[in-house]
Amino acid sequence: MDNKGFTLWFTGLSGSGKSTLAEYLTPILRERGTSVEILDGDVVRTNLSKGLGFSKEDRDTNIRRIGFVAGMLARNGVCAITAAISPYRDVRRECRAMCDNFVEVFVEAPLEVVEERDTKGLYKKARSGEIKNFTGISDPYEEPESAEVTVHTGGESIEESANKILGYLVERGFVSQEVTV
Ligand code: ADX
Repeated sequence: MDNKGFTLWFTGLSGSGKSTLAEYLTPILRERGTSVEILDGDVVRTNLSKGLGFSKEDRDTNIRRIGFVAGMLARNGVCAITAAISPYRDVRRECRAMCDNFVEVFVEAPLEVVEERDTKGLYKKARSGEIKNFTGISDPYEEPESAEVTVHTGGESIEESANKILGYLVERGFVSQEVTV
């Protein structure tokens, strides 16, 4: 089958599992003949978006850059997986318009869960005020209203979440049902 490019746009709180899911899905997609690139928020911020902060303006700039690159990749047959919080609905909508076959995935986890995980120790700093404007604590997160797929990483295993996404991609004809390579 021809590989159609598409954008898998993960959105969710810090620590919700966006990067972990992106990493988990990548080899699964590759063995089905799909080329994959990950645009991870933390990674993008060390190069493409180096110097940007976390004001709405800077976040919007960051997200538009990610959307721009994802669009370029997707129209060349690549699966672009983005893993940035992307907290604002209006900019996510802009990115949808910039990208071929945009699949929004809401990586949902309750604040209590991500705060308890606190994988990077940032929620603690956000609560103490050491970090300002932290998404979910002192900065907004606008949940998607019509994401193509929603996964609940607080209650599902990573395998369950990944299978939900994969099932959707196969159903849409973006990814082969069988292992091809
Ligand atoms: S976004 O809002 O522009 O989409 P992005 O995903 O690139 O954010 O970066 C989020 C990551 O930056 C978080 O996972 C966390 O590690 C770190 N970070 C540092 N400060 C903040 C903050 N104020 N709000 C959210 N994340 C922050």
